[in-house]
Amino acid sequence: MTIKSVETKYMQGREGLMRSLMNLDRRSFIKVSGAAAAAVMTKGLAYPHSFQPVTVAGGAASGGRAVEPFRFAYISDSHLYEKQLNDRFVRSLLRAVDDVNALDPQPDFVFYGGDLAQLGQPAELELGAQVLKALKAPVRMMVGEHDWYLDMGAKWRELFGQDIYSWDHKGVHFVVLNSVVEEDFWTARGLTPMERMRTVAGLDNRSQSNFQVGEEQRAWLRNDLASYADDTPLIVFSHSPLYHLYQAWNFWTIDAPEVQRILSRFSHVTVVHGHTHQLLTNRIGNIHFHGLLSTAWPWPYAPEGLPELTIQMNRPNPFNPQDGCGNGHVEVHADGLVDKVYNLWNRNPITVERAYLVSNGLQSRPAASNAASY
Ligand SMILES: [Fe+2]
Ligand SMILES: [Fe+2]
Repeated sequence: MTIKSVETKYMQGREGLMRSLMNLDRRSFIKVSGAAAAAVMTKGLAYPHSFQPVTVAGGAASGGRAVEPFRFAYISDSHLYEKQLNDRFVRSLLRAVDDVNALDPQPDFVFYGGDLAQLGQPAELELGAQVLKALKAPVRMMVGEHDWYLDMGAKWRELFGQDIYSWDHKGVHFVVLNSVVEEDFWTARGLTPMERMRTVAGLDNRSQSNFQVGEEQRAWLRNDLASYADDTPLIVFSHSPLYHLYQAWNFWTIDAPEVQRILSRFSHVTVVHGHTHQLLTNRIGNIHFHGLLSTAWPWPYAPEGLPELTIQMNRPNPFNPQDGCGNGHVEVHADGLVDKVYNLWNRNPITVERAYLVSNGLQSRPAASNAASY
């Protein structure tokens, strides 16, 4: 029996992925597979992949001064269709994977912010899982509404595990919530699973309920945080923003004020959310909020109620479908607060430093986007 090295296994897995995505154009394949091969050869590294990585235990109740600085990367909102229907979004996700794999130093993990699929279909979710396996670093997953409402999360949980969980890493306590829980609007109307999914996917159709975390999950959160001291740095992930931004587009989590109250006793809290597909910065009390970029498309800004700290990324170029999309990473500092880096494709990266939020916008104002607003 031939024993394969980890490198060989990795490259064979990678080749299998590329073969399975054959309808993508040849140039995209060569670019992404070439980048991975070069990284493996130059560094002599191999990257066994898992969606449930082993984590480093940080001391519970260890306090803000115990953080060992680190970075994590993020990718979000890829909205994959089956590749026969639309392969542009698959290529965009591959571009994000390339960007993250090129980070030096590599992030401790990659966080995926939800809406991997467009209509929660098994083929869409499986395609996304396959592509994300090309990441070198371990991946942590969160659900979005587009992943969930066809089968109420069954396929997603089969591929990625729990939707609500927490862990400790280098002195920071991380929490992942499912903030896209909706009241049952479908049973009384006799909707099929796909009708339910399409209703939720239509953000501004007003024929669904609001997103919420819900009482059951809030009780879980209170319990999860109970043993942590007030000065333990917290980073919380939610797909929809954990504040009220713009209800007509479901940029809104209805019980967000109650979740904020649970978090309010902590002195260093960052909430990172997907769903809004844009640069978005907010602060409420002690809580710093950052949005994630989408790899698929940028949403316009809400017509009213934009948080004052937000530096707008300008209106994207309609002739470049990847303009205003991207990925990025988060630098976690020794005090437990974070700098958020937006790697906007086609533009300058924009960093929103922790000093900007701490000073309520008086210091360290982020550079604006260097591209024209169309
Ligand atoms: Fe999305
Ligand atoms: Fe979403």
